[in-house]
Amino acid sequence: MHYGADYNPEQWPEEVWPEDVARMREAGVTMVSLGIFSWARIQPSEHEFDFEWLDRIIGLLHDGGIAVDLATATASPPPWATVAYPEMLAADENGTPYWHGSRQHYAPSSPAYRKLAAALVTRIAERYAQHPAVVLWHVNNEYGCHLNIDYSDAARDAFRSWLQNRYGSVEALNDAWGTMFWSQRYGSFAEVFPPRHAPYSHNPGQLLDYRRFTSDMLFECYRMERDIIRAAGALQPITTNFMGAFKPVNYAQWAAELDVISDDLYPDPNDPEGFREGAFHGDLMRSLKPGTPWLLMEQASNAVNWRPSNAPKAPGQLAAQSLQAVARGADGILFFQWRQSRAGSEKFHSGMLPHAGTETRTWREVVALGRTLGDLPALPADDGSARVAILLDWENWWAIENPDHPTSLDYLSLVRGWYDAAHRLHVQVDLVPPTADLSRYRAVIAPHLYLLTEQAAANLSGFVDGGGHLLVTAFTDVVDTNDRFRTGGFGTQLRRLLGVVVEDFGALVAPASSGPGQQQVQVSGGGFAFPGSLLAEEVQAVDAEVLAGFDGGRQDGMPGLTARRRGAGSAYYLATVPDDDGARQVLQHLFGAAQVQPVLPGLPPTVEAIRRGRLLTVINYGDEAVDVEVQGLDAVDGRAVSKVSLQPFGYALVLTDA
Ligand code: GAL
Repeated sequence: MHYGADYNPEQWPEEVWPEDVARMREAGVTMVSLGIFSWARIQPSEHEFDFEWLDRIIGLLHDGGIAVDLATATASPPPWATVAYPEMLAADENGTPYWHGSRQHYAPSSPAYRKLAAALVTRIAERYAQHPAVVLWHVNNEYGCHLNIDYSDAARDAFRSWLQNRYGSVEALNDAWGTMFWSQRYGSFAEVFPPRHAPYSHNPGQLLDYRRFTSDMLFECYRMERDIIRAAGALQPITTNFMGAFKPVNYAQWAAELDVISDDLYPDPNDPEGFREGAFHGDLMRSLKPGTPWLLMEQASNAVNWRPSNAPKAPGQLAAQSLQAVARGADGILFFQWRQSRAGSEKFHSGMLPHAGTETRTWREVVALGRTLGDLPALPADDGSARVAILLDWENWWAIENPDHPTSLDYLSLVRGWYDAAHRLHVQVDLVPPTADLSRYRAVIAPHLYLLTEQAAANLSGFVDGGGHLLVTAFTDVVDTNDRFRTGGFGTQLRRLLGVVVEDFGALVAPASSGPGQQQVQVSGGGFAFPGSLLAEEVQAVDAEVLAGFDGGRQDGMPGLTARRRGAGSAYYLATVPDDDGARQVLQHLFGAAQVQPVLPGLPPTVEAIRRGRLLTVINYGDEAVDVEVQGLDAVDGRAVSKVSLQPFGYALVLTDA
């Protein structure tokens, strides 16, 4: 179990370093991420490298028994680089450059950036590949975090090559994008540009491809650095830090090429539902690389600096959030950052070692957490106990959020709606792509797969044929991989599986819009009663049982929720977006059919129970103390446990037989 932080010794005089190492030992730190923003310090000018300071601090850490997650330092090019090579600056959709003076201002597709980054990484990797302190490589930092999309000339040129590679001919590109619409036909790849500022809507195929291209360019940067590290003979695992479900980067695609998944997590301490974000992150990270423990690479020990108002963490919140990650498969709890900065825009961001010193609650909680983590037994990565999967697909995310749809949908919040409902029911879930092997699951929730590939459609059918229980929700199976309708209407691939035909989408006025106010439709019948919003599709149940119908409004009497049994399995279709309680009603039905049980029965919604092998973690995020019955041995001190009393942010770590 790793414990530690980003460590930025270059921000401090060298006299401070030995104290840092001593304090790290006091806190139980086992590993620090070094060099993430050290490019300017390592390479003060193009032909000058200075590694002596880095040698010294790595040596000090090593002597202190602290391992190093060594960064490649490529996330923030120094000013000399962008002055010499201005073509490496990224640009916004007007083509205006992002200047240096902050961070992440580089164009990922820029040959100049890649050349400089490659030279830097080569030097670092060759120097430290065999160093015994280095146990992990940290490539770049939070790819795409600030710079979601780059519209620079470097991106323009790279996009043309990317398209040429994908389509082979400009005729194929024209066909894929449907450019006979609005006279958009291209005569050559050289006529194509990034979707820069335009008077009105861009071509949706182009927007989707630009998303793919953006993720691919960052992926190329990652793989370039990874390959350089390997070519230097380094054998340590390699990672780059993810940010939960982050739209610009297709983590599901990247995961296979990371040795270890790592994640950065910053829920708002003020948000009483923030713990569900932590749960969602953890379940996603575990699911991205089954069987391999992941690392919580960054979190805050207390407040951050980047919200309009930055609440401190409540007493105990830090340990609760950290153990929530361990419960979901993390084998490392790390922070941004070790010592709070004294200058720069993050000086108000908390650190493990606060600016106010060690006579602080933060320091005491940091030290206590280090002890708890150090006392935990070795844990399996993932015991495969989740029997439910929620499908999450990046390409669908990009496509469903293209403009000019019946209604605008926020895909992540819709997926989160289902996730949160399952979480409130204390059912453990995985978050997997629609083409994943689903055979270990009894129930699968497929929210809004607007872009549904043929492989995914076949996978869903196969799951139900194999006895699985599937829930498909509105606005699914609408377009192909180029965001074009398939011929033959909507839902063409899942029609037989679901036994329903979708005639129209029945958009309802969204909650946030002005005008007539939010529209809802009532779904009732068969024990269901809940409002739907955003969509109330006009659906014909041609070969399915209608469990509940729309009650009132334009869709009055039409099917709202249908089921089609197929052998031991079943396929449900929900033609609207339910509220929280509606999602709970639908999931209770689905889980009943699939015989899925909660991790522990009878828990309030602000308490969670998570299983990781023999370790059962129970955490109370509510305002009131709760008693929970659970049999086993306390994982930290070995005492027999039959009932635990949990104060707010209290937790129990219990080794059970099951
Ligand atoms: C992360 C970033 C860190 C630090 C942190 C502050 O996004 O990787 O370098 O800026 O946020 O919360």
